[in-house]
Order: sequence, then structure tokens, then C-alpha cells
Amino acid sequence: MQLTRDEQAILDGEKGAGAQKAMELVTALAKVYGADSLVDIKSAHLSGASYKTIGDGGLKYLSDLVDGGAKVSVPSTLNPVGMDRERWKEMHISPEFAEKQLRIIDLYGKMGIRKTCSCTPYAGPNVPGFGDHIAWAESSALSVANSFFGARTNREGGPGALAAAILGKTANYGYHLDENRRPTCVIDVEDMGGSVFDYSMLGQAVGMAMGKGVPYFRGLKDITIEQAKALSAAMAAAGSVALWHAEGCTPEARNGLDVEGLEHIHIGKKEFDASYDKLNTVDDVQLIAIGCPHLTVKEMHDIAAMLKGRKKRNKDVEIWFCTSEEVRAQCPDDVKVMEEFGPVLADTCMVVAPIESTFQRTATNSAKAGNYLPTLCSQKVLFSDISDLLKVIE
Ligand code: F3S
Repeated sequence: MQLTRDEQAILDGEKGAGAQKAMELVTALAKVYGADSLVDIKSAHLSGASYKTIGDGGLKYLSDLVDGGAKVSVPSTLNPVGMDRERWKEMHISPEFAEKQLRIIDLYGKMGIRKTCSCTPYAGPNVPGFGDHIAWAESSALSVANSFFGARTNREGGPGALAAAILGKTANYGYHLDENRRPTCVIDVEDMGGSVFDYSMLGQAVGMAMGKGVPYFRGLKDITIEQAKALSAAMAAAGSVALWHAEGCTPEARNGLDVEGLEHIHIGKKEFDASYDKLNTVDDVQLIAIGCPHLTVKEMHDIAAMLKGRKKRNKDVEIWFCTSEEVRAQCPDDVKVMEEFGPVLADTCMVVAPIESTFQRTATNSAKAGNYLPTLCSQKVLFSDISDLLKVIE
């Protein structure tokens, strides 16, 4: 593998122990994936921010990096953490967890990473440009970045993305290269609605059908950012899709792409029903969690409009709305309406919070959460459209 003189100097420890550690990791990954060089990146987005997921080992790893003088060299944002920084008591979080979570956020801040924590950085401070090389580590966000914005990133792991952020470089392989961005199969969609929930179901069905690869959708029109994030999140969780194209919609497929000879996968009523059945394992729930991925400003307006004039009568079920601090701050009137029903939590989510210490049965309108709540939070799941879920609390 070719390293420039500067890159070699970092590897030799001339720029400090933190940068050296980062270069060791990035070059090791480059070797594993057969990259012959590193590529400069414009931004990074880091996962591994919740104390629940990284534990004391992660805390120590971050402390060592900070002690070694590590600092990010490109704009970098952070994924959701295990609690709302101010309202963690409403989430039934213990003081011990809160104290360690705040230390983790502080350590990331010391490395120069923005301390707002969201899985929709593109709806806030980190908007990727077409063709930008980036190193992102949140499976839904990086798929949106690749597909909806036409940026270039692999499915980075947390430590790999952090190392790339420190160096401003990542290994040049996979979706950084033109030849790997071509479609690998065509998705013919039938019976498709236009709601965000429909796109979540579509993502679940496609993820289940193809696992990995680069799907090419035909027949989808004018995809919104809300639809793109639901589709991306579901395909990344039900499979491991990190890049998709939609003919006439997404930037690399605006004028169509060559798909001659590719396998076709048909998604229709049967596949939608199978997606729904796969994720539904319970009827009565203790918690309804909305906002996976984090709610956008438009979704906050839509939910508040749905809730206006209604009353929460079912006291046995809690409802949480998850979004970013930035979005919450932009929607004070919506927040007021929504908080008659349950807290609008910032910078956290139902999956990376330790909900399993309080709840066993959770409802969601997100296929991604539907996949992860059983495995990462030991939950039985009710998966349904938001309008149906809201009926549960009336
Ligand atoms: Fe975001 Fe948590 Fe879902 S990080 S994509 S809300 S699982």
C-alpha cells in the first residue's frame, strides 16, 4: 500500500500517540480490504456514543485517545447517546449510567467532535455534498449520504470512523470507487404507498430479499428525505445495504443507469405482508417509541398536527419522540403539543438507551427499530404505522 511521506510520518509517531493509533487502525483496515491508498475525507460521522453500547472498555479507549492528544481534523458529528442529557430521569436512567454517559460525550468534545448527537446529521450540521468522500458510521445515515446525496462512504465501524476523523483520511476501497457503486439488482415495486411507513416496509422487504448489494429501484417518484431515511434505515437493518439508486430520483441515477442483465426482485403485497409479520411479535405494549431515525422538522410538524385536539387517556403506555437537539429547538410549538403525550427527547433513541431495564414490550413505526429492539434491547415488538400507534394511547 502506498503511503505519502506525511502519512508515513504519522504512522511513525511523529504527530503524537493519538494520531499514530488512528493511522495504525486505518492502514490495518486498508490492508484487510485491499485498498492501495488513503483518500482525503470531507467529514466524519461517528457511532459508539452510547455508554450502553461501548461500556467501560469504550470509555477507557476514548480516554486513552484524548490523553494521547487525539483531535479530529475534519467536521465530525456523533450518533445518538444513551439518554437525553437533561431529561434522563424521565427515561428511567440510573445516575451511574448518566455520569458515565456524560463523560463519554465530554471526551468526544475534547477531540473536537460536535457534541450534538443524532443519526440524521444531514438534517443538521453535517450535510454531505455530491461526490464528497466521507467516513460515516451510522448505517442509516451513511446509506442516505451515499444514495440521496451521492457522497461516498463505506459502512464504517465506530473506531474506524473515529480514526478517519482524526486523520482526515480513510482507506480508498468499496463505495469510494466508481466500479463498486453500480447497481447489482433491479427492484420492481408493486402496490407501493407513499408514506414513510410504506418506505420502511419496502426497506425491510428488500433487505430481507437481497441481504447485501446495491439495489436499483424502478417506479419510485420524487423521494423525500423522510422516505429516503426510512428506506435506508430498514435496508441497513434487515440486510446490510449501504448504497441504493432510484431511477430518475437519486443523483447518480437521475438519467438512469445500465442495469441490463441484472437479476430482478419483485416486491409486492406478499413481500410487504411478510415484512410486517416478521417484525410483529406482540399486541400490547408499555412504550411507544417514535423517531428512528430521528424525526425531521417536517415529521415533527406532521405528528403535532395529528395529535392536536386529541387526549392521552391510556396511562399504562408511555410514548417517546426522539429527535436531535437542533430539530427540537426549531419546533417549539410542535414540542408543546407533543409533550401533552410524552417527552420529546433529544440526541438519544429507544435502541441505544437502556430501555430493557424498564420495558419489555415496545411499539415502533420503524423497521430498523423493529429489527434491533429484540436483539439489542430484549423487547417484543409491535410494528405499525404511526396513526395506528397513536390510537393505543387514546
Ligand atoms: Fe437512529 Fe437509534 Fe434508529 S441511532 S437510526 S434512532 S436505532
